[in-house]
This record gives sequence, structure tokens and C-alpha cells, in this order.
Amino acid sequence: THIKFDTSKLKPFVHENELAEMQALVTACDQELRAGTGAGHDFRGFLDLPQNYDQTEFARIKTAAQKIQNDSEVFIGIGIGGSYLGARAAIDFLSSTFYNVKNERDVPEVYFCGNSISPNYLADLLAVIGDRDFSINVISKSGTTTEPSIAFRILKAKLIEKYGEEAAKGRIYATTDRAKGALKSEADAEDYAEFVVPDDLGGRFSVLSAVGLLPIAVAGIDLDQLMAGAAAARSDYQDSDLEQNEAYQYAALRNILYRKGYTTELLENYEPNLQYFGEWWKQLAGESEGKDQKGIFPASANFSTDLHSLGQYIQEGRRNLMETVLIIDQPRYDLEIPRTADNLDGLQYLEGKSMDYVNKKAYEGVVLAHTDGGVPVMSVHLPKQDAYTLGYTIYFFEIAIAISGYLNGINPFNQPGVEAYKQNMFALLGRPGYEELGHELNQRL
Ligand code: PA5
Repeated sequence: THIKFDTSKLKPFVHENELAEMQALVTACDQELRAGTGAGHDFRGFLDLPQNYDQTEFARIKTAAQKIQNDSEVFIGIGIGGSYLGARAAIDFLSSTFYNVKNERDVPEVYFCGNSISPNYLADLLAVIGDRDFSINVISKSGTTTEPSIAFRILKAKLIEKYGEEAAKGRIYATTDRAKGALKSEADAEDYAEFVVPDDLGGRFSVLSAVGLLPIAVAGIDLDQLMAGAAAARSDYQDSDLEQNEAYQYAALRNILYRKGYTTELLENYEPNLQYFGEWWKQLAGESEGKDQKGIFPASANFSTDLHSLGQYIQEGRRNLMETVLIIDQPRYDLEIPRTADNLDGLQYLEGKSMDYVNKKAYEGVVLAHTDGGVPVMSVHLPKQDAYTLGYTIYFFEIAIAISGYLNGINPFNQPGVEAYKQNMFALLGRPGYEELGHELNQRL
């Protein structure tokens, strides 16, 4: 039931000895990671999280999710970056493609906001909520991020308008630092239900903490299975031997390819439910590895959709691309292609075949075509589209990206570069303390 990393199509791009040559470095990086001697070691909490999570908090999350399911038609997760993408990816991965369309669903509609500064988006969301019962989960480790703070103010005002000051508080769930930040102070003062983002988790590694788990539980997903899958991956990826550890194989191979000039990696899928997994992965990889003027650029594509847009570039454009394909061996559903009396659409040769069969043939055809076109392709086979497999896959990528960062000689756990635009934005907005920078920037505009 575990995932399988397939490197069989890399032969034209990676010589047999190259992976083995990386072993010494991989072993050193593994030791750095596990012993905490590497850069950013304060943020290695993700390594043992599936085993060592706070059971009391875990139970509180489930209870809160049940309360929200009982008293709300709509649930809003407010957060950005690592405080949003994991939950969105997990819910999309595991739910009906159209999970917010009302049918026999017995869980609230789930929406996210605070992940942009778009007034359109928030106004549209307020209209979707309408006068229905709703609850909000504001998620911010720092507790001071502008986008979610603005969205929270606006949604809090709607809650207060509908329920009054006191009852509104019972519909606000705050996930933040255990001790500091504006959100923590407000949650304490207003008595919101509080959940903790552990100190040793960076945002992009936090999906299996309260950050991701409360929204995921509200969406009706089995948290125990999710954590069990991650725990199984934790135990499977303990060994630094490249022959045993497929997550480390992935880390080493993408670095081997990177050094040959394959500087962009596309994470691809053949299931629309996995689109946001690609978004989550892009943050995990990009924010971890893009620093010190180096790093693989992470991009994503959704197939077969994007074969009709990006496909031309991938096949014949600049040869700096590598691909990692997520392929679901057994989809949640399959459909048979119907028989017809005539053959007006020319599809007779597919009659009686299943759509998944066709999807898999598309995948096989693409892998060979792209390989022939000079693009190295790796595949990650996921046996099923269930919570256990998702937990396992999340851990696979988290540990792989951490090791990959060390292999490329950077600190995979910091993100100094995300501050630059914020300083400018604060200065241009006239935030107190930024007057001088504001003056300077306004002259440049
Ligand atoms: O991974 C990260 O560190 C970032 O993407 C953060 O998660 C994001 O900026 C949101 O930060 P916060 O949770 O402090 O609001």
C-alpha cells in the first residue's frame, strides 16, 4: 500500500554510477538532519511529528471539527502560504472534485481566504456565506501576516453582525504560536478556541499539525489514517542507504539532474484533485531550496489538461526541464466508455475500455515522448487516493526536500527572501516605523 518511486526512464540522463556516487553526501546530509547539526535545525519538527504529536491537541481538533460540522453550513479557513496550502491540497486530494456543491454531503462547505488581498474574492465569499451559519479558523504562526489579518477583520465583523459579540467568539478558532504574536494576544483576550503551531515547524512543513488538521477534519477526513500514513513513511525513510530509501533517491536524482542543467522541475498529475498538491509542493520546494542564488525552480502542470497548453514547450522548448509525475494507480472511481451503434466520433476502438485505462495510456505515451524529447521523467506511484496514502506522500516530499536542500548546500528551513516585498509594502502603506523607506520608495515609483 506504499508509494513507489519509479526511475526506470532516467537511463538516458543519469549513468548507473552517479546515484551511488551521491551516497556519501546523502549519508552526511541525513546525519546533519537527524542529529540537528545542519542549518535551520530548530525546524526539524516535521521529522518525528507523525509519531510524536500532541495527542490532547489532536483530540481537541477532532472535537472542534465535530462542533463546526454540527453548527455551521460554511467553514472558512483563513491563512496564506504554509498556513493554507497543505489543508487545501489535502481536502482537494481526498474529497469530491465538487465538494462544495450541495448534494448528500454532511459536512460544511469549506472555503479559504486571506491568501490574497483581492477585494473581489472576499466580497464574493461574503456573498457565498450569505446569511447561513458559519465558523472561521484563522491560521497564522506569526499572528501578524497582513493578508489573513485583513480577511479575519472582515469576517469577524460579519460574525459579530450575525451572532453578536459574545456568540461570535464561539465561532472563531485561532491556530497560532503558543506564546507570541498579535493573534495569540487577541485569542487570549477574546477567549477564542486556540490551537498551537509547534515552534519547530516552519509553515510549509506544518500541514500535519493543527494548521492543516482542523480544516481537514472539518471536511470529514480521517485524521488517524492521515497520520498513520505519515508515520509509516517516517519508519520507511529512516535508512540513509539510497538503495532502500526512495525519498532520498528522489532528492539525490533531482540534484544530479539539476547539476546537469535541468534547473526547472515540473510536478505533474493526471487527476484534477491533485492540482493543489502541486501548489503545496511548489511552496515546499521553492521556499526551501530557492536561496543563495541557486535552487531548482519548482513548477507544476495538470495533465492531460496542460498537454494542450504547456505540452509543446515541454516536448520541444528549452531543455532545462525535468518532470516528476504523481500517478494514482487506483482512482477513486472509474467509468466505462459507452458503446454506440455508429462510430461517428471514431471512438469505437475505445468502447468498453475504462477512462482510467485511457488516462494511464496517456501517461505512458507522454513519459516516452518527453523522454525522447530530452526531458528526464521520474514517477511517484500512489496506490490510492486515500488519507493514508496522502499522509505517506506528504512525508515523502517533506523529508526529500529537506535532504535535497542540504545536498545543495543551503538551509532548507529558512525563508529570508519573503521579507523583502513585505518591507516595501509596509513602507508604501505608511505603517508606523517605515517612514524613511516609504519616502525613498515613493520617489522611485
Ligand atoms: O512557510 C512559510 O513560512 C510561509 O509561507 C508562511 O506560512 C506564510 O507566510 C504565513 O505565515 P503565518 O503563518 O505566520 O501567517
